[in-house]
Amino acid sequence: MNSRGAGPAVLLVDDERDALDACSQALAAERYRVDTARDPRDALEKLERGSYDAAVVDLKMPGMSGLDVLRAMRRLDPDVAVVMVTGYATVETAVEAMKDGASDYLQKPFTPDELRLAVRRAIDRQELVRENQALRERLGAQREAPALIGESAPMREVRRLIARVAEGEATVLVTGETGTGKELAARAIHALSRRAAQPFIAVDCAAVPGELLESEFFGHEKGAFTGAIRRRKGSFELAHGGTLFLDEIGTMSVELQAKLLRVLQEREIQPVGSERKIAIDVRVIAATNRNLREAVRQGGFREDLYYRLNVIPLRLPPLRERPDDIPLLVDHFIAKHGPKLARRIESVDPAALAALAAAPWPGNVRELESAVERAMTLVDGPVLDAGAFGCLGEEPRGTVETSSAAPARDGGTPRDAAPLPPLADVERDYIMQVLHATRWNRREASRILGISTVTLWRKINGRAAEDSRE
Ligand SMILES: Nc1ncnc2c1ncn2[C@@H]1O[C@H](COP(=O)(O)OP(=O)(O)OP(=O)(O)O)[C@@H](O)[C@H]1O
Ligand SMILES: [Mg+2]
Repeated sequence: MNSRGAGPAVLLVDDERDALDACSQALAAERYRVDTARDPRDALEKLERGSYDAAVVDLKMPGMSGLDVLRAMRRLDPDVAVVMVTGYATVETAVEAMKDGASDYLQKPFTPDELRLAVRRAIDRQELVRENQALRERLGAQREAPALIGESAPMREVRRLIARVAEGEATVLVTGETGTGKELAARAIHALSRRAAQPFIAVDCAAVPGELLESEFFGHEKGAFTGAIRRRKGSFELAHGGTLFLDEIGTMSVELQAKLLRVLQEREIQPVGSERKIAIDVRVIAATNRNLREAVRQGGFREDLYYRLNVIPLRLPPLRERPDDIPLLVDHFIAKHGPKLARRIESVDPAALAALAAAPWPGNVRELESAVERAMTLVDGPVLDAGAFGCLGEEPRGTVETSSAAPARDGGTPRDAAPLPPLADVERDYIMQVLHATRWNRREASRILGISTVTLWRKINGRAAEDSRE
């Protein structure tokens, strides 16, 4: 950066040095951080590397037209507000520029005040666009509280507790085996709380690589580590005003546990590589399928953090403890997946239901849901019978197999219904996991994966198999 200030960062693009100097001075006087580029290519490189709030671009430059620069900029970073600078003769083009996403245009000659006003307005407008987008996403996401199906005594108790804790602000620790509905319960608490209109942000602590989890939680400044090409908000900041769901909390490193504890106590976060502290208002709901108390006893989980999270414990019972809920759940999943699968199922054969109720369901509700979905795709008529559920009818215990259910916990013997996947699938899954964890930041993802961005691009475009032959 040519000049440092505390305000928004602006990139000035003009091939004339005098014009750049004059504009730089005008903006630096108002504490903008100003950076300059004298040709389009340099400008795009800087935009890719830096994080700017706005760019002021001359429409007429040698090499590449201002409009092309504008379009390239919008592609690289749609969050940057672009102000186009035009001469008298190019007002027509300026109109075109507005259509292509410029926030504003300035006609030459202009005064320093006019420049400052245009930049300020462009940044404000961009901010508004962003807020609108966020609002729309939030409204779209905000549905009614998800239904936790089940009329068994333990499920009624779970619903009663959810309704009660939703009124308050206390931290909730949701426990239960895999697939018992922990995330669903957390979403229900959020949806019933006064924070319902604010974001619900879920972080799967087990899916984010350990070294990235801190930045995932607290965000980072640009340049905080290799690959941190711009400032990024962490989940705590994104969940501000709403609910933060910390899934698989038991997998977190002891070091990060200490940081999390401090944040929960002080209610402020410090992004990685930053001096600033940011006040945060979030309700935390944590979940685990491990026995955290046991982890505390063995020294893998901090006791003080355990007590801070476990203010209100919410235990979701395994499905085998409430077989009475199975018929209701089956109906619920038939209704849920019917439209998508274009299947109209009218009834479930009683023998099949009896077999479902007797099965052990190690993957709990998630496994039952997959079994129903699979049976719906396999069945021909309107009745789900034992045949549709595979060999369930003949062998009522433990034979319901689903490919997406929880991993087998019996030592991983390969079974007929779930063949071991080929390498390409595993690779693809892992790549998707890293991409997800980096919020589709391909550069960061390729750094973690140890491959070039080009190779990564080819792999996510479905050429993994080809690639591994090289
Ligand atoms: N009581 C319920 N009523 C309706 N759907 C349910 C219920 N419990 C779970 N489900 C459904 O089962 C699936 C798994 O639930 P969820 O993801 O909440 O489980 P989980 O406990 O978080 O599992 P995991 O430990 O594997 O992450 C989801 O599709 C969810 O909607
Ligand atoms: Mg879950």
